Amino acid sequence: MKVVTVVGARPQFIKAAVVSHIIRKEHTEILVHTGQHYDYNMSEQFFNELNIPAPDYNLGISGGSHAQMTAKMMVSIEEVLMKEEPDCLLVYGDTNSTLAAALAAAKLHIPICHVEAGARTHCMTNPEEINRICTDHVSTLLLASTQSGIDSMSKEGLAERGVLVGDPMYDAFLEYSKIRKKEDVELLLLNGEKRSLPAVFYYLTCHREENTNDDKDLLEIFNAMQQLDAPTVYSVHPRNKARAKRLQERYNFNNIILCEPVGYLDSVCLVNNAKKIVTDSGGLQREAFFAGIKCVTILDFVVWPETMVDNRNELAKPKASDIIEKLNNKQKIDSAYKPFGDGHSAEKIVSALENRFLRRV
Ligand code: UD1
Ligand code: UDP
Repeated sequence: MKVVTVVGARPQFIKAAVVSHIIRKEHTEILVHTGQHYDYNMSEQFFNELNIPAPDYNLGISGGSHAQMTAKMMVSIEEVLMKEEPDCLLVYGDTNSTLAAALAAAKLHIPICHVEAGARTHCMTNPEEINRICTDHVSTLLLASTQSGIDSMSKEGLAERGVLVGDPMYDAFLEYSKIRKKEDVELLLLNGEKRSLPAVFYYLTCHREENTNDDKDLLEIFNAMQQLDAPTVYSVHPRNKARAKRLQERYNFNNIILCEPVGYLDSVCLVNNAKKIVTDSGGLQREAFFAGIKCVTILDFVVWPETMVDNRNELAKPKASDIIEKLNNKQKIDSAYKPFGDGHSAEKIVSALENRFLRRV
C-alpha cells in the first residue's frame, strides 16, 4: 500500500509522529509538509524531537488569507498526488493543509482517510469547522477519535464510512510525556533571556483566530492571569507575539512569563506540572484531560465534549471575571472514564487503512 500523508501544522506533526512509523513497517509512505508552520520551534523541532521521518516534499506554502493559502496548497498537492499515484491520502485534523489536500485528492478520485473525523463545533464562523465538514464529506474513511465523532457522522449521513479508533494525541501523550523532567525545561523568553520553570505555575496558550483579532480578548486573558496566586507561563504562538509583548510592556503584567513556543516534550511536561491550564487549543484541552489537570477553554464552542465533565474543562468568555470564576471551580476525576481510547490509536488507524485500501492479490 502506498500512502501520501499531508501535514503542515504543529498538532499534525505530533499525530504523524505516532502513525508514520507504524505505516512504514509494511507500507510506503510519502510525507508532504505544506509549510504552513515553518519556524524552527513550530516545525523542525517536532521532526527532530519526535523522530518523524523527513518530509519527501516541503511545499513552502504559508500565510496569506485562508483562500490564498488553501488554493496555493491545492495546486502543489495536486502535482504531488499526480506524480505519486498513491492508494490513498492520509490527513489529520482541521487545518487549511487538511482541507487543501482533501479537495485536491477528491478531484483526482484518490480515496481519502481523515483522522479526527466527526469532530464538530457547530459554529460556522470557526474556520476549522468549515475545514472539518468539507474534509469529512469528501473522505472515504472517517476515523473518529471519540464516540461523539461517530455520533456526528450519523447525523450527517456519514456513519457507514466511520470507524472509532481513539485519539493518536493520547498515544503520543503516553509515549512522550515522561521524557522531559521539569527541572530540565529551559524557557526562551520573548525578550531573548532564558529561565527555568517556576516551582508553581499556570500554563497558557492562546492562538485561535477568534481570540486574536484585536487587543481586547488577550488583554482580558492577561488581566485574569495577572491576578492568580502563581505566575503564568504563556507559550506565545507567532500569530500573537507582537501583541503579547506590547500589552505586557504597556500594562506591566509581571505575573506572566512570555516565552517562545516550546517543543512537544517541554509542552507535555508543562501540562503535567501546571497548577491549571488556560487555553484555546484543541490539543491542549485534551492533554489537560489526559493529565488530570483542570482546564479553562476560552472559546464560545465545545470542541471536545468528552472533556467537559465534572468541571474538568469549562468554557469561559474572554472576560477576566469569567476566567477566574471557572478556574476556581473544583474538578472531580473519575479515573475509569477514558473516552479517548487505550493509547493504541495509531495501530488502529493503520489497520483501518489496510482493511480499506490494501490491494490484495
Ligand atoms: C493553524 C490552524 C489552527 C491550528 C493551529 C495550530 C488553520 C485555519 N488554522 O492556525 O486550526 O489550531 O494552526 O497551531 O489552518 N506563523 C509564523 N510562524 C510559523 C507559523 C505561523 O510566523 O511557524 C504566522 C503565519 O505567517 C501567520 C500566522 O502565524 O501569519 C498564523 O498562521 P496560520 O498557519 O495561518 O494559522 P495558525 O494560527 O497557526
Ligand atoms: N504545543 C507545543 N508547544 C507549544 C504549545 C503547544 O508543543 O508551545 C503542543 C501542545 O502540547 C499540543 C499541540 O501543540 O500537543 C497543540 O497544538 P496547537 O495548540 O498549536 O493546535 P490545536 O490543537 O489547537 O489545533
